[in-house]
Amino acid sequence: MPLQSTFYDENRSGENFPQLALVAPSPQHSYDKLRITLGKDFARPPNMNLAEFIDSRQEQHLTELKEFLRIPSVSAKSEHKPDIERAAKWVADNLRAAGFKSIEIVPTALHPLVYAESLEAPGKPTILFYGHYDVQPAEPLELWTTPAFEPASRNGNLFGRGTADDKGQVHIHLKALQSLHELYGKLPVNVKVLIEGEEEVGSVSLWDFVQKNKEKLKADALLVSDTSMLGKGVPSITYGLRGLNYYQIELTGPERDLHSGVYGGAVPNPLTILTELFAKLHDKHFHVAVPGFYDKVAKLSSAERKALNGLPWNKKAFQKAVGAPGYCGEKGFSIVEQLWVRPTLELNGVWGGYTGEGAKTVIPSKAYAKFSTRLVPNQDPKKIAAQVENYIRKLLPKTVKCKFELLSTGKPWAAPYQAPIFKKAQTALEKGFGKKAVFIREGGSIPFVTQMHDTFKVPCVLIGFGLPDENAHAPDEHIYLENYFNGIKAIAHFYADLATL
Ligand code: BES
Ligand code: MN
Ligand code: MN
Repeated sequence: MPLQSTFYDENRSGENFPQLALVAPSPQHSYDKLRITLGKDFARPPNMNLAEFIDSRQEQHLTELKEFLRIPSVSAKSEHKPDIERAAKWVADNLRAAGFKSIEIVPTALHPLVYAESLEAPGKPTILFYGHYDVQPAEPLELWTTPAFEPASRNGNLFGRGTADDKGQVHIHLKALQSLHELYGKLPVNVKVLIEGEEEVGSVSLWDFVQKNKEKLKADALLVSDTSMLGKGVPSITYGLRGLNYYQIELTGPERDLHSGVYGGAVPNPLTILTELFAKLHDKHFHVAVPGFYDKVAKLSSAERKALNGLPWNKKAFQKAVGAPGYCGEKGFSIVEQLWVRPTLELNGVWGGYTGEGAKTVIPSKAYAKFSTRLVPNQDPKKIAAQVENYIRKLLPKTVKCKFELLSTGKPWAAPYQAPIFKKAQTALEKGFGKKAVFIREGGSIPFVTQMHDTFKVPCVLIGFGLPDENAHAPDEHIYLENYFNGIKAIAHFYADLATL
């Protein structure tokens, strides 16, 4: 006998569906207004609503998340290839537990992606959930309080690589979906799940997969949890991300390293030239000096500017998280604007010459730099790359050769949040966190979001459960457990509420 449920749809209390009964919200579970009365053939804990059911599973959820986190699925390093494969399989197996029957591990040119669908809610919306199971390298290992791949709880936080970015957040969805499946026997909406293993290395294979599977991936909305909340106690929906161009340059002076006493003074030093070059890429007001860099930057409307600057953003918390002796940023813009709506150019790494112990008197033959530009609407990544390359070539003296590479590129994204789904998201977050959600933009980049938005023209709902100071990409990455647990409840309510979108 098939299991049935109404998923809060009060209009569908037909004979095959368990009856809904409204009860007054209890103080502990004010987010849960509805209590569902069981059909007599329906084997599940009596009198448990969705939030109570999820609360009753906390320990199990945490144990399982730790298991996921113990797999060192570092996408950047080939030595972790077996772990990547293991993580993909773990995700696939877990989706099976959440009731998905159609699950594929799709091999790509680099790392496999996991795709699953549950299309058992005819007439209901289809939601595509996207996340990534790969993580950043854990180095420098000695700076972790407890080992990166041995998850440990301390002071209400769970520490480990991938806790916040993005395994913990992916797990929130897996457990929300599993809870709905276990409680009601099927999912309230049609769900497609795409969890990739290359996000942290630029999602190189994903674009190809999207292009080849446009029909399959079609959905009414994209749902992503790979961003942050504005702060503790402030559930947030992100409607804008910056784009990212990543570059590397190699400068060559002398054809080999030279004794700096024998030759110094009469030959070009590529390291010195490199540092001079980077000193010229910003002016004293921290404007990027590349000609044309700001030409296409979309002007913020005064209403949006007001809204963003009026958010409960906490400067003290920001400065505490950064911990620098002083602060700087593009003149004429608030910090929130500098972080979310202004483009930047950042030097990410420089090397060359001698960096080992003691002294070595050498003029290096080569000097290298990795750097990036964060982009905002309506900057075109290709045009920006060309402008950056031209300007760098113009600034460099004839005494060095320059190899310029664009390593990866991703477009910026910002979209209005008027569609009804955003109200549903806000309501669901309120059910999970007991607080009203705010709409924010963020400075990080998720290239897939723009690809999806451009390809399918659907609303993209980004609900993040990380916090800005949870050390994503750094030692002692962690997730605040209250956000993890409340996140499962909010997301489960969201999927349920989407049945009436
Ligand atoms: N989850 C982040 C992106 C992010 C972080 C968005 C914080 C909003 C707030 C993602 O995993 C990431 O790290 N992206 C990279 C770019 C990617 C192409 C390697 C980034 O933003 O540097
Ligand atoms: Mn991420
Ligand atoms: Mn990341």
